[in-house]
Amino acid sequence: MISAAVEPHVEQFSPEHREPLAADFTPTAKTLGTDPKNKRKVLFVTSEIADLVKTGGLGDVSAALPRAMRHLHDVRVLIPGYPQVLESDNPIHLVGELGGHAALPPCKIGRMDLADGLVIYVLICPELYQREGTPYGANNGRDWPDNHIRFARLGLAAAEIAAGEGMVHWKPDLVHAHDWPAGLSPAYMHWRGLRTPTLFTIHNLAYQGVVSRACCPELAIPEHALQQEGMEFYGKLSFLKAGLAYASHITTVSATYAREITTPSFGCGLDGFLASKAQQGLLSGIPNGIDESWDSASDPHLAHPFSLNDWQGKAANARQVRALFALEPSSGPLFAVVSRLVYQKGLDLTLGVAEYIVRQGGQIAIIGRGEPEEEQAMRELALRHPGQIGVRIGFNETDARRMFAGSDFLLMPSRYEPCGLSQMYAQRFGSLPVARNTGGLADTIENGVTGFLFDESTLESYREALGRAFYVYDKPNLLNAMRCLAMTQPFNWCQAVEPYARLYEELVENARVTPR
Ligand code: ADP
Ligand code: GLC
Repeated sequence: MISAAVEPHVEQFSPEHREPLAADFTPTAKTLGTDPKNKRKVLFVTSEIADLVKTGGLGDVSAALPRAMRHLHDVRVLIPGYPQVLESDNPIHLVGELGGHAALPPCKIGRMDLADGLVIYVLICPELYQREGTPYGANNGRDWPDNHIRFARLGLAAAEIAAGEGMVHWKPDLVHAHDWPAGLSPAYMHWRGLRTPTLFTIHNLAYQGVVSRACCPELAIPEHALQQEGMEFYGKLSFLKAGLAYASHITTVSATYAREITTPSFGCGLDGFLASKAQQGLLSGIPNGIDESWDSASDPHLAHPFSLNDWQGKAANARQVRALFALEPSSGPLFAVVSRLVYQKGLDLTLGVAEYIVRQGGQIAIIGRGEPEEEQAMRELALRHPGQIGVRIGFNETDARRMFAGSDFLLMPSRYEPCGLSQMYAQRFGSLPVARNTGGLADTIENGVTGFLFDESTLESYREALGRAFYVYDKPNLLNAMRCLAMTQPFNWCQAVEPYARLYEELVENARVTPR
């Protein structure tokens, strides 16, 4: 049942009443008070970028944020030279060389200029990165056993570039490192006494890169780092904690997740540490945005582009998705799952409500890959409901975009969600998320207005929200009003650019005035 307080608000909506989108306001050097002649040099250290290789939202953010910041700062990206990077069509010129250190082998630095001018530094070290699979493991889902060496090499390379080593001839004013694979960048910089400020962004606290303390010598980690204020984590070494402990400032990707991770339920054992960082003003939440390619009227991935109020166009996308997933023609709602198939995403809950959805006349299309057991469970689910539930194990951007465009609802019952991009993509394409009230989902979905939130990770709570979705589906005016509101939500990168730009400026300025 839809809550009475919310429904009238939605029915009164007409798109002309909307305020101008925040996208109309692009922060500039002038509005931010920064000097356009004095662009800061920022090195963005990441393990994926959507242009070349991605396993999830980190890849999207690594592609979008440096571009969104480019008019203010000279942001360049450092990424390992996986086959997907080296074998892309973009030429790579060698610009530097770094020596070996402890068990970290020597490597070369290549420079790749993407078509729109974004500069990527590629860490070339075939023995570490030239392997078939994902950035983190083999195609069978197993992590590479030497990931600690592979990503320590990435962190050390960032520190060496920051120190002006390797003849790269470009020395950053700030290093912005992302998630555990880049966690050692601020640490190596600290141990080398560099004054260059560092920002560490948590995209997902649950992946920590924890290894035995016996790895210290091979990774050139000093003994004194093995303390509570350092990178020690229950007697082991944590790459993620290294980022948290040694960075000048920490951000995460939504305001709600920034609060949640200071509590035991979401803190993954680091809540006390993070709460103390928050008290010192060293932890903040800056929400992700989505880039301009998310335009249902012009997206080249869509066979049937459509705009606001063109519900026939949306229906044509739905027919295409049904055909792709071998679903029977239906006038009922189409639910989509576009997800990494991992515990975080709460897919076991979707398994638990699937029967209910089908009984109510709904169909489900699922795309994703991840843990082998989750993949198998999804395959079996489809076998139990031929023609009503379809599954494709794997991922491709075109199918994902078509699913956002063709579905009526997106299922996202995440146990935790630092930000989440899929719920924003879905809304932009007129698919209303049914999602857990947590993290970035809570911050980007207006319950009963642009989607349906539920509080508990339980089947009852999930079913109640689905009940509201079915109720709305049967009221075309209400459904279309919600779609309009969802499609016009001002999700974009401008809102993130301003706080990041201010933070960069503050960190560089603090480092300049702080005495040695
Ligand atoms: P997360 O990063 O936790 O997976 P987000 O919602 O932030 O969640 O980002 C998901 C992004 O990754 C979207 O661009 C989505 O289309 C894409 N994606 C979803 N599943 C996969 C997958 N199995 N492999 C690669 N990309 C995926
Ligand atoms: C992580 C999080 C996701 C977030 C993404 C990009 O993968 O799980 O919530 O949107 O990073 O920041």
